[in-house]
Amino acid sequence: MNNVRIGSVGLGRLGLQHAVNIASRIQHAELIALCDVDETKLEETADKLGIIHKFSSFDDLIACNDVDAVVIVSPSALHTEQIASAMAAKKHVFSEKPLGTTVAECKIAEKAVEEHPELIFMLGFMRRFDESYKYARDKVAAGEIGKPILFRSYSQDPEKFIEGAIAFAPHSGGQFLDMAVHDIDLARWFTGSEPETVYAIGGCYAHKEFAASKDGDNVSCLMKFKNDCMVFIFAGRTAPHGYNVETEIIGTKGILRIASIPQKNLVEILDDNGVRRECSQNFLERFDTAYVNEIQEFVNCIIENRKPTVSVYDGTRVSEIAYTCKSAFESGELIKF
Ligand code: NAI
Repeated sequence: MNNVRIGSVGLGRLGLQHAVNIASRIQHAELIALCDVDETKLEETADKLGIIHKFSSFDDLIACNDVDAVVIVSPSALHTEQIASAMAAKKHVFSEKPLGTTVAECKIAEKAVEEHPELIFMLGFMRRFDESYKYARDKVAAGEIGKPILFRSYSQDPEKFIEGAIAFAPHSGGQFLDMAVHDIDLARWFTGSEPETVYAIGGCYAHKEFAASKDGDNVSCLMKFKNDCMVFIFAGRTAPHGYNVETEIIGTKGILRIASIPQKNLVEILDDNGVRRECSQNFLERFDTAYVNEIQEFVNCIIENRKPTVSVYDGTRVSEIAYTCKSAFESGELIKF
């Protein structure tokens, strides 16, 4: 195969961007079909991108013979059933994170992938495809900062999106599953190790609504990894300044920081507020290139018939860790993995 025909499901905040990217920014790929239960959104996006195949049912999308691969950007609770039915219909699958909203669901996805070794499956841990994270990971892997001692990672959403976060809270799986999965994935990727123990704290500092889902608006956890690395992760929904994703890795011979000042670009503004840099305001802005790079890698894997480095097992493992963090948060106890 030298041109991959893709059908994309879910045309929401991220799904629309993936669709635009596939239609115009991915080599050797063609956006051939769209699917969303919201028919207005479906029609508008199909018109804008010039797509002929439009489906309001996922079953109809995967029954379409012109579709080689499916990109799943639907709500998290649908991921695993859509992965399983798409693979049963012999489609290659890229799924957004999280793999599933329970570990049992993740096992359904694992089974589907195992039953179809001839198909490519990839999960959307896009930070691994961000140029800065990739650059830093190569340095750590080359031993440039020695042995990792501390891994610290923050994911903060802007307060201005709080209403959406509150509405999404009952279905999100909680901050550890919804937000911190990326940081948990990075911790495993950077350290090459797995957690041994976790302690988690946090609370509803500004928005008590999260308590109904046994969650907090700002949460954190401290994990000891098997290689003795200390891992600290913070996930918050109330950043006043914008979308703030930053990571630090302290090693025995050096320290790496990625985006410790979450600037939008290299522009400095000098005005009556002083001297300042603007901040990224959302994930689409901050990880624009990473979203393109990850889908390009998915397409390349299909064409070259090789397995992506992000596997279904990474998805399950990260979900297991996120749930254990959530249990630690709810119980206030130190939990051994
Ligand atoms: P969204 O709520 O904005 O969009 C979801 C879309 O799916 C909507 O257009 C909805 O009509 C459609 N939909 C719902 N049920 C459907 C069904 N049965 N069949 C077809 N379409 C259906 O959601 P958003 O924020 O775009 O998130 C989608 C997924 O992407 C989530 O799993 C989320 O965790 C993930 N995500 C990942 C990010 C990342 O950084 N990797 C960032 C944001 C979201």
